[in-house]
Amino acid sequence: MPDMDEQARAILRGNDRGGYTVPTAGLYPYQWNWDSAFAAWGFATFDVERGWDEIETLFSGQWGNGMVPHILFHRPDPGYFPGPEVWGGIGPVASSGISQPPVAASFARRIYDLDPEAGLPVVARLFPKMLAWHRWFMEWRLDQGAVCITHPWEAGRDNTPDWDGAMAGIDPIDVGDYTRRDTSHVDPEMRPTKYDYDRYVWLVRLGRRLNWDEAALLEQNPFRVADPTMTFTLLRAQRDLAALGRILKEDVSEIEAAIAVLEAGAETLWNAELASYDARDVRSGQWANCVSNASFLCWYAGIQNPAMEAQYDRITSVCTYPVPSHDPSSDRFDPKRYWRGPTWGIMNALIGIGLQDCGLVERAENLRTSTADLIREYGFAEYFDPISGDAAGGGTFTWTAAVWLGWAS
Ligand code: DGY
Repeated sequence: MPDMDEQARAILRGNDRGGYTVPTAGLYPYQWNWDSAFAAWGFATFDVERGWDEIETLFSGQWGNGMVPHILFHRPDPGYFPGPEVWGGIGPVASSGISQPPVAASFARRIYDLDPEAGLPVVARLFPKMLAWHRWFMEWRLDQGAVCITHPWEAGRDNTPDWDGAMAGIDPIDVGDYTRRDTSHVDPEMRPTKYDYDRYVWLVRLGRRLNWDEAALLEQNPFRVADPTMTFTLLRAQRDLAALGRILKEDVSEIEAAIAVLEAGAETLWNAELASYDARDVRSGQWANCVSNASFLCWYAGIQNPAMEAQYDRITSVCTYPVPSHDPSSDRFDPKRYWRGPTWGIMNALIGIGLQDCGLVERAENLRTSTADLIREYGFAEYFDPISGDAAGGGTFTWTAAVWLGWAS
C-alpha cells in the first residue's frame, strides 16, 4: 500500500483533466470553483507550476462583470445535472450562473510563498482578475457589509439548516421535470432531499430567466441570505489580495476600504441570543439560529471572539472527529446528510489555519491531528460522519487529498 502522501498525489493526478481537476469522477465531472483552489494548493506541494495552472484555468471562465462561476463546463458530460444547457451561463466558457466562496486569492498567496520567484509573474497576471471578482461581490452582494448568497450552492454548503427558513419561502410549483444524477452516484441518504432539489432547480431557472442580471436578481430572487462562509472567506481573501498587491507595488487602498466594510459586515452576522456568528435571511430579517462549521471561520477572517471559543469547545467535545457542519445538540443534526452534520476536511483546514493565525495553537493542532486520523482511518472521502468517522459522499476526493498534502499530514 503506497504511503498516504503518495495516495493523495495519485488522487490529484487521477482527477486531473489537463489544466483543471475534477472534484471526483462521476459525481462532479467538471471544474468547481473552490474545489479548484484547494486542488491548486495540493498540487503546489509537489508541482508549483501545475498548482498555478489550476487557478489560471479557473479565471479563464471569469465573466465580463467580474464574477467567477461555481462550475466551468469545459467538456460535455451527460452524467451531471444541471448541465450547461440548464444554466445558460453568459461567460467565455460554458458555466453555471452563480459563484462560490472566494478562496482563490488566499491559496494564491500560499502558493506564491512556496516559490516567490516562479509565482511573481503569475500573481501579476491574476491580480487584476482576482480584484475584479472581489469587486463584483462588493458591488452586488453586500447587505450591511455582509456577503449574501443567491443560491444555496453558492456557499458550497448546499443543504445546511442555515437556509431552511429561506428555502421554505420558495414555492417551486412550476419547476418542471428534471432527473437528478447525484443520487445515481451516491447513497440518497447522504445527499440533499427532493424538497431541496426542487428549490435548487427552481432558483437556477429563475436566474436563467433573468439572464443572470444581478440587479434583477436583487429585486426578484426570494433567496438572499447573508452568509458566514462568504463573508469570512471574502474578508480573508481581501487581506491576502492586499498582501499580494503590496508585493506587486499596486495601490491597495480600494482593498483596504473593502476590508473595513467587511469587518463591520461580519459583526452583523453576530446572533447575540445564540452567542454565535449565524446566517441572516435578508428577505425576512430572520436568523437561521445555527452554529455551523462556517461560524468557526471567524478566526480565518482574523476575528477573535471568546464566545466562539466556548462554542467551539462545546461542539468539538461531543464529536470524535470534529468539526461537524451542524450543531450535534440540534434536532436538525443528521450525521451523514451532506452539510447537515458531517465533517468536511476543507472546512477543518480553513478553521485550523484561522485558529493557528489567531494564536489558538492548541485547538489548531488538535484539529489538524484529528483530521489526519480521520483521513488515515477512513480514506480520502468527500465528507465524514463526525461521530463514527464513516466515509460519506464521493470517494478519491480531490480536496480531501489536497487538504492532506497542504495541511493535515
Ligand atoms: C451539486 O451538484 O451537488 C453541487 O453541490 C452543486 O454545486
